[in-house]
Amino acid sequence: MKALLCTRYGTPDDLEIADIAVPEPGAGEALVKIEAAALNFFDTLIIAGKYQFKPAPPFSPAAEFAGTVEKLGAGVTSVKVGDRVLGYMTYGAAREHVAVSAERLLKIPDALDFDRAAGLCITYGTTLHALKDRAKLKTGESLAVLGASGGVGLAAVELGKIMGARVIACASSDDKLVFAREHGADLGINYASDDLKEALRRVTDGRGVDVIYDPVGGPYTEPSLRSIAWQGRFLVVGFAAGDIPKLPLNLVLLKGCDVLGVFWGAFIERDPQGHRANTQQLVDWCVQGKISSHVHSVYPLAEGRAALKAIAARQVMGKVILRP
Ligand SMILES: NC(=O)c1ccc[n+]([C@@H]2O[C@H](COP(=O)([O-])OP(=O)(O)OC[C@H]3O[C@@H](n4cnc5c(N)ncnc54)[C@H](OP(=O)(O)O)[C@@H]3O)[C@@H](O)[C@H]2O)c1
Repeated sequence: MKALLCTRYGTPDDLEIADIAVPEPGAGEALVKIEAAALNFFDTLIIAGKYQFKPAPPFSPAAEFAGTVEKLGAGVTSVKVGDRVLGYMTYGAAREHVAVSAERLLKIPDALDFDRAAGLCITYGTTLHALKDRAKLKTGESLAVLGASGGVGLAAVELGKIMGARVIACASSDDKLVFAREHGADLGINYASDDLKEALRRVTDGRGVDVIYDPVGGPYTEPSLRSIAWQGRFLVVGFAAGDIPKLPLNLVLLKGCDVLGVFWGAFIERDPQGHRANTQQLVDWCVQGKISSHVHSVYPLAEGRAALKAIAARQVMGKVILRP
């Protein structure tokens, strides 16, 4: 089978397409024919050896996927051959087949296409965990989303609306803000041209923002924290801008606010039932048209380098999909 391989840590240009053996599913595993593998920003870090997981090369990027069950290992009863499924792994889905624990798979209905299903598990799963389990976002609260047109950012816009929040999209271009508003955001702030702290205060009539969703970090974190409401919640999701910001803790004291870490990978290990329930909810919402799982572009596996370069260049709105 064909696989997109990282044979040494580096840039997308260092990735190679190779022929490798189709794996045999072990006990408790299913062999899945990958129909769509969704890329995330962290794939650009994994292949550079700069992520929290540093797999030994050779390995494939892509941690979430959708496909068809082709073969079962011993003892698997939760899925059967022919089932359409979505699933996740820490890395390794950018290839034609994967053997994965059946517990990591969830059946999907025919009404949900593989491309949109592939991006639900991690991208939307992280955000539902953040807004529901961590911030406990309530109807009528304001929610500011940084990087609002990116993968998890768009998910936060859409899930924030479902949860009844007033969603303030924040992004680096007017095009990205138009896109976020088309997906439900109530208003937008261009943080490349506007002062983020002042703008967030302005659009909340000086009250400040109840919940801030930050997958970007870098220069945007502190100005947004300075605009948080009394007893607001600040969600630390990621650092796509590169720098991990340091926060003056006096701000947390003065605002009486909570700074909440979001770590989806640890959450699903500690609360597998909660994760399954969240994922099923996301599948249902996607089938009902309540969330888009918007696909920005689909690349053949052989063009995986270009797909990762587009993410690193900040060009993507929604998800990038690889089709083996
Ligand atoms: N905590 C968790 O469990 C968890 C789970 C999944 C993902 N994450 C993290 O969440 C972050 C976003 O992931 P994603 O897959 O949604 O990424 P994405 O689709 O690439 O979106 C990231 C957004 O960050 C903004 N950005 C600012 N500076 C950037 C830069 N130098 N390069 C790229 N983007 C930049 C961009 O929006 P603007 O141009 O509008 O600024 C972009 O839309 C990553 O740090 C990822 O590791 C965390």
